[in-house]
Amino acid sequence: MPFVMVHNRKVYYAGDNSLEGSPVIFCHGSGGGHHHWLYQLKNLQNPVNPLAVDLPGHGRSEGDALHSVSAYRDWLHDFTQEIGIERFIPAGHSLGGAIALDYAIHYPDHTMGLILIGTGSRLRVLPAILDVLREGQVPPDFVDFLYSPAAEDELRVRGREEVAACAASVYYADLNACDRFDISSELPRISVPALILCGTDDRLTPVKYSRFLADNIPWSRIEIIEGAGHMVMLEKPDQVNSAIRAFVAELDTYSKEN
Ligand code: COA
Repeated sequence: MPFVMVHNRKVYYAGDNSLEGSPVIFCHGSGGGHHHWLYQLKNLQNPVNPLAVDLPGHGRSEGDALHSVSAYRDWLHDFTQEIGIERFIPAGHSLGGAIALDYAIHYPDHTMGLILIGTGSRLRVLPAILDVLREGQVPPDFVDFLYSPAAEDELRVRGREEVAACAASVYYADLNACDRFDISSELPRISVPALILCGTDDRLTPVKYSRFLADNIPWSRIEIIEGAGHMVMLEKPDQVNSAIRAFVAELDTYSKEN
């Protein structure tokens, strides 16, 4: 159960950074935590060393949620320095994907590749959602946007408990950070290979956003996963893991050859 201090606050991450394999650091989305990566942490070892962090103010990490993607991006860098990882593959979902994208642009020497799941280069949020959060409430139907209609009920029940357990102020900070994020014109600067994954039924970051990433990141591969919503890594873990495994193996081969 590793904890590390970042900016004098205790930070939790799941996984073991001393293990073999290319380090992939998973970053959750708005109001989330490392548990969103349950199936990646459990089933992805070799060629991957999966690690999943709780961003500040989330899950078991102390502190407050940050207010911009760029602040999270720099925080991620400080976190990786604390755990002694110089180069890694940032992998992010939704807000976490925005952090990963921004990281690849600003810290190219520390980035081996990029995994982008249910995300986009611009993440405007429905004003009605922000209005309710500003009043200190989480919209009661928020969870309905997260999963495909085909998702198992158990996932939706767990999702509802999780949404209820997270403070509205954390969602508000995170979704505001998303709303102000737009690096669409900077995508051609990304110099590492990117894997882009999205569910066909994603209503929060529709497939169109992923196609835009694929069209504008110079070296990318996109896989659209049938019958999954925004929480594709929980809804279709086997497909997500196969795509990640193949991508990381290819990156390893490429880096040995060059
Ligand atoms: N990649 C590619 N295209 C994008 C994009 C992205 N990341 N973000 C926006 N666009 C497109 C839109 O699809 C739209 O295209 P269109 O004119 O062909 O329909 C255009 O750019 C303008 O979009 P936007 O700035 O989002 O304005 P809008 O007035 O169309 O919609 C919202 C605003 C909030 C209603 C809309 O963004 C939305 O429904 N978002 C999803 C819901 C949400 O809250 N998601 C949370 C994300 S974390």
